[in-house]
Amino acid sequence: MMLKDKVAVIYGAGGAIGGAVARAFAGEGAKVFLTGRLRAPVDAVAEDIVSGGGSAEAATIDALDEQAVGRHLQYVIDRAGRVDISFNAAGIPNAKIVGVPLAELDAEQFSQPITTYTTSYFLTARLAARRMVPNKSGVIMTVTALHSRTGLPLAGGYGPAMAAKEALTRDLSAELAPQGIRVVGLRPHGMPETSTMREICDLKAKATGMTWEQFQGYLANMTHPRRVMTLAEMANVAAFMASDKASGMTGTTVNLTMGSLDD
Ligand SMILES: NC(=O)c1ccc[n+]([C@@H]2O[C@H](COP(=O)([O-])OP(=O)(O)OC[C@H]3O[C@@H](n4cnc5c(N)ncnc54)[C@H](OP(=O)(O)O)[C@@H]3O)[C@@H](O)[C@H]2O)c1
Repeated sequence: MMLKDKVAVIYGAGGAIGGAVARAFAGEGAKVFLTGRLRAPVDAVAEDIVSGGGSAEAATIDALDEQAVGRHLQYVIDRAGRVDISFNAAGIPNAKIVGVPLAELDAEQFSQPITTYTTSYFLTARLAARRMVPNKSGVIMTVTALHSRTGLPLAGGYGPAMAAKEALTRDLSAELAPQGIRVVGLRPHGMPETSTMREICDLKAKATGMTWEQFQGYLANMTHPRRVMTLAEMANVAAFMASDKASGMTGTTVNLTMGSLDD
């Protein structure tokens, strides 16, 4: 098992990506500490993992609340001895971001995803780094989207937010890798099995004129294999990147767009 006895904290663990990553980490032997703002979805993932023989604990934590994140990390260290992996999968509702042309967008709505995504990634990464540095070991991870590297319409401040997170991954690595901590991101293509993509389709439907079926076909046809990536495939890559088998990987965001975005 690639993550045997590793201790992982996941933010946004009740969501599609956070939940899939939590299951994959636990399946590879990690002890996972799952957090989110709403308790019920986090509990559901934890119960699923435990009923499958894995180790998981749920907690209600807002990834923007510095004190709460710090207290929880101390709890994890008291319980499990250390923290090896921090994965920030927090995602804010797209209804607050997507669907308005930039020419009509007000500045507050534009800056909201930039502030929220970068601050939650910064806080969770910084607080994890402080606990990893004494061990000279750890992996800090997050997730972005192809908007970081290509122009797409009606996404508001989401593209700049994703680009900023990828820049932060590089900068964190430049400072932390000399101290034994790797910092890596994943950039998956849109995965229609998540409610996030259905929400985006609905928010853009008026402008694109696409039905849900057409939108899924559009996503699939952007990729080389003409199909979308599954959550399980994405999470398997995350588990590998979190493991010591990826010890040579840091300061980068892995392109999981299956050919739809050139490096
Ligand atoms: N889905 C895709 O196909 C896809 C593809 C590429 C990139 N992405 C990106 O990946 C990220 C996650 O996507 P997803 O589909 O997994 O979204 P999701 O299902 O909506 O999950 C996001 C989770 O983040 C939690 N969250 C939000 N704000 C938080 C905060 N301040 N502190 C702690 N947890 C918080 C939410 O929990 P609460 O409800 O409790 O707030 C929710 O469970 C997003 O940035 C998304 O844009 C998604």
